[in-house]
Order: sequence, then structure tokens, then C-alpha cells
Amino acid sequence: MNNRITQLFNIEYPLIQAGMIWASGYKLASAVSNAGGLGLIGAGSMYPDVLREHIQKCKKATDKPFGVNVPMLYPNIEEIMDIIVEEGVKIVFTSAGNPKTWTPFLKENGIIVVHVVSSVKFALKAQDAGVDAVVAEGFEAGGHNGREETTTFTLIPMVKEQLQIPLIAAGGIATGHGMLAAMVLGADAVQVGSRFAASVESSSHDNFKKAIVEAKDGDTQLTLKELAPVRLIKNKFFQDVTELYTKSPTVDDLKTLLGRARAKKGMFEGDLDEGELEIGQIAGLIHDIKPAADIVKEIITDFEKAKQEVAGL
Ligand SMILES: Cc1cc2nc3c(=O)[nH]c(=O)nc-3n(C[C@H](O)[C@H](O)[C@H](O)COP(=O)(O)O)c2cc1C
Repeated sequence: MNNRITQLFNIEYPLIQAGMIWASGYKLASAVSNAGGLGLIGAGSMYPDVLREHIQKCKKATDKPFGVNVPMLYPNIEEIMDIIVEEGVKIVFTSAGNPKTWTPFLKENGIIVVHVVSSVKFALKAQDAGVDAVVAEGFEAGGHNGREETTTFTLIPMVKEQLQIPLIAAGGIATGHGMLAAMVLGADAVQVGSRFAASVESSSHDNFKKAIVEAKDGDTQLTLKELAPVRLIKNKFFQDVTELYTKSPTVDDLKTLLGRARAKKGMFEGDLDEGELEIGQIAGLIHDIKPAADIVKEIITDFEKAKQEVAGL
């Protein structure tokens, strides 16, 4: 395939594996890049020295382009950005913050910058800040999310109407049919998270991967909007949060219940009761754990099939 995104990143398919805390280390990123997509290392759950190690291992594991996702809430953000430059990373996806803060620094260092947004307003702000492309993420998506609850189906055409730079759709895409739908709505590419969280190379715990496969439609919900809205599987921890909401909690009450390292406990250590289990609505369509290269192949084959199907409409 050849379009603005495949040209920007120099990749075969306009398919990006999302940066995901506790799920996307170098093994997943390099496997996706080797299969023709763009793999991203998720820096959000890594100490700086761990990130450096993952970048170095990724460079050894693939000679194809790969990138790093940096949620800008990161406490060691300066150190992270310096490591990215020192290690010669060519592509950075920033999220959870103001794109004006780091885009000029990254661009000065010759890095391609993409920023993740959940509204038209912030897509345009990212474009003004000088990023090379925007990921527009609907509220179906796994992980942290927009407060406005705008779905991918509505967000993509609204962003497309105003944005000039390339647009990547995220949220609820796990198949080639979903990929084609997003591209028909105006996306140049798709970013896929949940489907790759349930891959062999994902660094998350097997218990979490099995929970993704078992999840059905309606098993996830956006919560903790007063802190940072996040979509979770409705496990015991989620029920505890829901119970607390019946008592009109303060933000501090919510913070106290959340505590520290909930996401690590759930997704990395496999505690399905007490941990946070971040996954998207599309988990209901994920029925197996398979190698990342097979997922890439399956999505692209299904994309071609979907194109033929709609040709007959
Ligand atoms: C387990 C998990 C962890 C995530 N962590 C991050 C993260 O660290 N940074 C980020 O920008 N987005 C993160 N996300 C969101 C993804 O990057 C992506 O945009 C989203 O998963 C796409 O929607 P989908 O899950 O429906 O495919 C995460 C998503 C999941 C499922």
C-alpha cells in the first residue's frame, strides 16, 4: 500500500501497533515492524534505563522503522526525551499532554512527531504545534481516553473535515473490516491497541491476555473521569470504584482507592481482581492470543477481503 502514512514512516502497511503501558516492549514493537506495520515501544511504564534497553534491543531485532510512545505525564520526561534522541529513535508518538511542549525539541532533532488526541479542537492544536500526523482516538479505545465520549465513527470524519496533515484512526479497530471502515471515513492509517495486547509478544501477563479473550461486548466501561478517564474491564476493582461513586466521593477519595501501581498489578502481574485491566470495547471481537506477525497478516488479508465485499455494494 502506498499513501501519506506509509510514505511518512517508510512502512509497508498503514497499520500501527499502539504504544501500551505494560504490554508493548521491544518484542512486540519489533515483531510488528518486521511484519510490515509500525511497532511502537510504550515508554509509559518504563523507567528511563529500561526504555534505553528496549530501544537498543529493538534496533537489534529489526532493521525496519519503529517508534516510541511517550505519555507526557511521565515524571522523568526530560530524561526520556534525551534517551530518545541519544538512541537515534526516528519516530515518537506523544500523548496525554500539550503537543507544544515537546514537538519543537523533537523536530529540531529530526524526529517524526505524531500526537494522540480525542477531539477536533486538540487535533488542530497538534497540527498548529507542528506535528507530522495526528492519532484521533475514539472513546471505544482501551486505556486512557477523552472525557467527551466521542466515538471513532464520529470523531474521524469530523477531524478529517478540518485537518490537513495525515490522520490515524484509533479505537475499536481490530480487523481489516474495521481498518477499511476507518479509512473510508477519512483516516490514512489505523492504530491498533487491544488486538496487539492479546498477542504472544505482548509483555502483559497471561491472565490479562486470557481476560481479553474472554471479554464480551459490554464488559468494559470508562471510569475515573475525575482523575484520568480510563476504560477498564468490569472486574472487582472496577466494582469497588463503582461502589465508591454511590457515596459522592471527592477526587482524593478516588485517588486513595486507586492507590499506586494498579495498572501494573492487573496487566503485568496478572491480578485480575485488584488490578486495573485497561482494554477497549473491541475485546469482544478478540478470540485468541496469537503472534503479532499473524495479527498483521490477518488484518491486511481481511482488509483486502473487505474491499472486495464493498465493491459489490
Ligand atoms: C493495555 C493498554 C495500554 C495503553 N497504554 C497507552 C499508553 O501508554 N500511551 C498511549 O498513548 N495510549 C495507550 N493506550 C491506548 C492505545 O495507544 C490505543 O490508542 C488504543 O488501544 C486504541 O484502541 P483499541 O484498544 O480499541 O485498539 C493503551 C491501550 C491499552 C489497551
